[in-house]
Formats: sequence, structure tokens, C-alpha cells
Amino acid sequence: MAEYSHPFLKFPMNEKELEELAQNERDYLLLHGGSLRLRESKSNDEVRFAPFFLFPSLFPERGFRRALLVQTAMNKLMMGVAYDRQFLTHCLKNTIEVDDFTAGLFKIYTAVMDEGLTQPITLGLLRVDYFACDLSDTIYQVEANVIASGWSGMSVVSTDMHRYGLTEMGHLDKLDQIPVNTSLSGIAEGMIHAWDKYNVEGAAILFVVEERTINICDQRFHEFQIYKQRPGIKVLRRTHGELVTKATLTSDRRLMVDGYEIALVYYRMGYSPDHYPTDKEWSVRLLIERSKAIKSPSIQLHLSGTKKVQQELSRPGALERFLNEEEVKLCRSVFTGLYSLDMNEEGDAAVKMAIANPERFVLKPQREGGGNNVYGLEIAKTLSAIKNSPERTGYILMDLIEPHVQPNYLLRAGQGKPQLVQAVGELGIFGYILSDANQTYCNECCGFTLRSKPSTVLEGGVIGGSGAMDSPFLVSSDEHIRTASDLGEK
Ligand SMILES: Nc1ncnc2c1ncn2[C@@H]1O[C@H](COP(=O)(O)OP(=O)(O)O)[C@@H](O)[C@H]1O
Ligand SMILES: [Mg+2]
Repeated sequence: MAEYSHPFLKFPMNEKELEELAQNERDYLLLHGGSLRLRESKSNDEVRFAPFFLFPSLFPERGFRRALLVQTAMNKLMMGVAYDRQFLTHCLKNTIEVDDFTAGLFKIYTAVMDEGLTQPITLGLLRVDYFACDLSDTIYQVEANVIASGWSGMSVVSTDMHRYGLTEMGHLDKLDQIPVNTSLSGIAEGMIHAWDKYNVEGAAILFVVEERTINICDQRFHEFQIYKQRPGIKVLRRTHGELVTKATLTSDRRLMVDGYEIALVYYRMGYSPDHYPTDKEWSVRLLIERSKAIKSPSIQLHLSGTKKVQQELSRPGALERFLNEEEVKLCRSVFTGLYSLDMNEEGDAAVKMAIANPERFVLKPQREGGGNNVYGLEIAKTLSAIKNSPERTGYILMDLIEPHVQPNYLLRAGQGKPQLVQAVGELGIFGYILSDANQTYCNECCGFTLRSKPSTVLEGGVIGGSGAMDSPFLVSSDEHIRTASDLGEK
């Protein structure tokens, strides 16, 4: 695991300087909406600043550029899979035998495909996540998110805050090393493209949301941004539960909610089994999928974002089905080892390999939202228990990526002083694509987010509690000083 010191900061920092910076940046976040609602309070009247790292974290410039370059190919790839029934069915045939949630989604998919898609076009709003293990141009894809890809709003606040922090400290010459972030305007632009394509005056964009989310700023920023770019577009926020009674289809399959025709349905939930507590929520998802509204994601794109599909795409020859030679090269350059656990010789070998060296892998079920993966000795335990059962086909196996670590200060609301930790960062690149089975109307890379966590923590979602907002500080490999570990070092 590579460890890096900062090219121009010394850790630990002078207490007084640190306190002043923490106060400045915390105020910046509070005054610019870099905040979360309080999980423990039912009140929606207050927010507090989201956990954040005081300094932007080093990220290899060449790796960053590679991630940007790959994005439009990734957008195209995920959309290509979405519209390839044979491939999707082949990928998921074993998974749906053992994973009820994926089976539920697949049932809707089969229903809409069998009757013919009412709306041929899908809007993909993607965030592809990566780790960098050193400061070279090699990066590894963790996963591609196609549903409820968050942080395009908050990451803009985070980049601006880090720029402000460096300015306050007098590091004006370093500002250009934090790249300009257009993720929020880009994602909103993608939604407006879809609205334009639907082309019905007065139609609305529907955000399907959880009963209560603590990540309210990120979601609201998207609504405000749509209003800013196109004040004429109405945005509605409704929960799945509300849509059970409010969503209807006209005889020509227009989706109606509270008197508005819906041009675009944007899911900020819907990726987890507990978002479908009863058959009614499943029925409402089916109703939406059968409608003329453009969906982000449609059921077919949702399925193309499953971990099983990611694993199948890593097989030799799979990418060639969807991409040209140049795009194949780009996508393949960010893949790491992925292994099927299907009930065959290949799956048996993967099980054996994982049980023998569990610390080298991550075991992943078909779930989204963090906190579901299995690591280390638990992998051996889990696989030993299910190795002879088809249950194992509900998982995929992936090489463990060991991202580079570096010191940084983490501050959480209510915790007083910033805490010096060794941190690892996960880069997310945003992109949007609007297309149908035959034609792509737009395909763009539109920004980034960096979320970091202490290196001792296995998973680092900000909402999950262990991760924090960060921003990339782009460096080339000769700009850093490599040390064994400079935590606490002078
Ligand atoms: N191959 C891997 N190596 C190291 N850590 C990983 C790997 N895959 C996932 N993780 C960690 O687990 C987290 C969740 O995994 P991910 O595949 O992104 O699933 P989810 O859909 O739950 O976000 C990631 O954000 C990352 O911190
Ligand atoms: Mg993830």
C-alpha cells in the first residue's frame, strides 16, 4: 500500500492554524449548503455541516484524466447492455434464481419488454467510482452506479470550499490543482435534455425520493439547478408511498402525478429491497416503467448496473460486443479481477481461491448503497457455508484494491477538533447519456466527486457514517515525497 506525504503541508499542523482553518471551512459549508439533515432528529428545520477533510487529497493527475476519458465509453457501455436483452438475460439468469430483489426487478423488465417499451429512450445519470493505488495513471474501477448516483451537488460545494481554504492559507499558486467541477450543472443539463426530448410543454420532472433523507442538500441542489437553467420546468418530489395513490396512466400511457404529466422520472431511491416494503411499491415501479415518461434509470439500465453484469463485462470479449477498439482499451484499462461464483468449474475454482486467500478479495452481493460487502476472514466463513449451494451465485468476487493512503484532518459536526487520520479517497466521475436502442442523442462526462475515509475503515459512504467529503488535489508522480508513514512525522 503506497503512502504519501503532502507536497506542501507538514502534519501535524500548528494548532492555531488548524483551528482557524477548521472554523473557516465549517462556516463555508454551513453557509453554502454543504450540510446534512440530522439523522437522530425528526425535525427538518435544521442541518449541520457534512463530515469533511480539511485539505483536498492528493490524486494522480494522469489517473484523473484517464477516469474522465473513460467516462463516455462507460456511459455507452452501460446503455449498450441495457438494450441487449440477450446479454442481460444471460448475465442474470443464475442470479435471479437466488436473489429475490434482482428477480423482482427482472420480472418488471420481462413484463415491459414482452409488451414492448412504451418509451424507447433512457436517461443514464452515472457515477463511476475508482481507487488509485499510487500516483501513476493506473486507476481501478470499484463500480458503475446507474441509479441514485449522488454527490454531484455536494461535491461542487466541497471543491469550492477547498479552494477557499487554500486561498485563506495563502496557497494561491496551488488553486489550479483542484480541477473545476461542473458535476451539478452537468447532471441537471442531462435531465433537461431528457425533458426537451419528451417535448411536452408544461410536463414535469418527478424526483422519486425516500420518506426522509439526510442527504437533502445534494438532492435539493439538483432541483434548484434545474430551475436555474430552465425556470419553466416544474419539479415534483414524491415518495414511492405517495406515488402508490397519486401516480396514474392515461389511456395513451402518459404518467400523471397530481395533475402534471411527467416527462422524466429521476430515482433517488429504488435500489434497495427496503424501498419496496409491499407489493404496492413494486406495482408503482411497474406502472412507471410502462409509462411514456423517460426514466433515469429505466428498468433495463437499472439491471445493467448490477454487480453481476460488472463481473460478466470483465470476461474476455464481452466489451467488444458494445464498444469500438479504442473504447474497449480504455474501459479494460480500469478493470481489476472479477470472478463468477456460478455453479460450475470456474465458480468452484474462484470459491477455492477466495477461501485460501480471503484477504485478497471482496465478496459482493447484488446490493447498492454501501455496507453490504464481505471482507477478509468473513469471506472464507461465508463461502465455506454456502460453497455447495446455488446461494453463492447471488455474489460476485472481486480483487481487493488497496488505495494509496495519506494524512489528512477529518472534521465531523459536534466532534470539536479535527482528527488526524491516514485517509484513502474514492473518486467518482459523473456522466450523462440519453439514448435508445439505436441512437445516442447526447453522451457527456460532466464532473467528479472525491469521498475519503480513514484507511482503517472498510467502506466509506458519507451517509453510512465513516466517509467524508473531499476534493482531488491533482499531482504528478514527481511532485510528492514518498515516506514510510509520515503521520505525526516532522
Ligand atoms: N474491490 C474493492 N477493493 C477495495 N474496496 C472495495 C472494493 N469494492 C468495494 N470496496 C469498498 O466498498 C464500498 C462499497 O462497494 P461498492 O461496490 O461501491 O458497492 P455499493 O453499491 O454498496 O456502493 C466502496 O465504496 C469501497 O469503499
Ligand atoms: Mg459504491
